[in-house]
Amino acid sequence: MNNHRVRPATAGDAEAICRIYNQGIEDRVATLETELRTPEERRQWLASRGARHPVIVAENAAGEVVGWGSLNVFNPREAYRFVADFSVYVEPAWRGKGVGRVVLERLIELARQHDFHKMVLSAFPTNAGGMALYEKLGFRTVGIYREQGMLDGRWVDTIIMEKLL
Ligand SMILES: CC(C)(COP(=O)(O)OP(=O)(O)OC[C@H]1O[C@@H](n2cnc3c(N)ncnc32)[C@H](O)[C@@H]1OP(=O)(O)O)[C@@H](O)C(=O)NCCC(=O)NCCS
Repeated sequence: MNNHRVRPATAGDAEAICRIYNQGIEDRVATLETELRTPEERRQWLASRGARHPVIVAENAAGEVVGWGSLNVFNPREAYRFVADFSVYVEPAWRGKGVGRVVLERLIELARQHDFHKMVLSAFPTNAGGMALYEKLGFRTVGIYREQGMLDGRWVDTIIMEKLL
């Protein structure tokens, strides 16, 4: 039974989104991003989102934000307007409890509503949680870039996945 409620993010969520994103950046399992964010920077990021690129948050039964997700611009060229990139991040203590699934399920619904044709992602193939979530929700592997990023002095591979909507 999944008690997590998903809703659109507001400016008041900037702090929680920032904290959860920074945890994801620092634990080095999720992203090639290495620059930690601030609540103010996340507030501006929230304010700058276009209508087709929403940010959502998941709350636990106590009403605390424990995860967030977003639909992102894949490529600003007009021909790519039907492709959405996305992000999903869950607070470490709340991982493996169904939060990522409800966030990504809602992102898929939103992507369909906003007339996207596909969703794509880039991740680390070693990210067991991410790989499990994406495969369960119907993403297929497009391919793996070998030694695509240099993180803490080591080459890392990235995996590209997609889901036609
Ligand atoms: C990846 C992440 C978003 C997944 O969210 P989550 O809330 O932990 O995942 P869920 O609990 O919703 O699990 C979704 C499914 O994947 C499975 N799963 C989750 N973590 C797993 C793991 N480490 N190993 C194997 N399976 C796993 C679950 O069993 C579940 O399957 P089910 O719905 O059929 O029961 C979360 O772990 C996270 O925030 N990680 C750090 C940030 C990150 O990696 N973001 C993605 C960047 S590409």
